[in-house]
Amino acid sequence: MQKDNIVVNNEEVFKIFITEQEIRKRISELADKLNRDFQDRVPIFIGILNGSFIFMSDLIREITIDCEIDFFKLSSYGDAKISSGNVTMLKDLNCEVKGRDIIIVEDVVDSGLSIAYIRDLIIQQNPRSFSVVTLLYKKAAAKVDFPLEYVGFEIPTEFVIGYGLDYAQKWRNLRSIYVLDPSSDGNASTTGED
Ligand code: IMP
Ligand code: MG
Repeated sequence: MQKDNIVVNNEEVFKIFITEQEIRKRISELADKLNRDFQDRVPIFIGILNGSFIFMSDLIREITIDCEIDFFKLSSYGDAKISSGNVTMLKDLNCEVKGRDIIIVEDVVDSGLSIAYIRDLIIQQNPRSFSVVTLLYKKAAAKVDFPLEYVGFEIPTEFVIGYGLDYAQKWRNLRSIYVLDPSSDGNASTTGED
């Protein structure tokens, strides 16, 4: 069942923003492109925990080419509504990156700090190629000086929850994506684990 509104802490109202059906359709389009672009390659999809776990599992089941999977776990600390100021690694990769096609799978690129940090780490290890697939992209907020080839949805600089994205670690299990209604008293924070 899909609710139209989610009320958090009795005061913050999140409205339905991207439905389960819209997400599914867009993932299938992204996967079609990835299947074409990496035909005859065996890319490694690297999910960024925790936020990308649902997107990763849905995306990967639409991938029809041979592929491998690994995960990074990052932690970012920031003020309320500012998703990160400082990025640290909580779980490193288990795979060998050198010479491989690396595809990072992110839930959302917000400030761009996390993805820039990950890119630096990967590039140092001489992959054959580096790509990013992100379900959401807050384009106006993000400072990225490299292309994001695979973007699900460009969204405004608003706080969103659901489909893997949390608010103080909760609400990841919502099947759709919800956006904070600015007229409700929001103090949403992404502090802690991504
Ligand atoms: P960054 O600001 O691009 O480094 O984003 C860091 C991480 O913050 C993302 O991967 C998400 O896990 C989290 N994040 C950013 N924006 C939101 C949001 O609107 N809701 C929930 N988590 C978010
Ligand atoms: Mg994340």
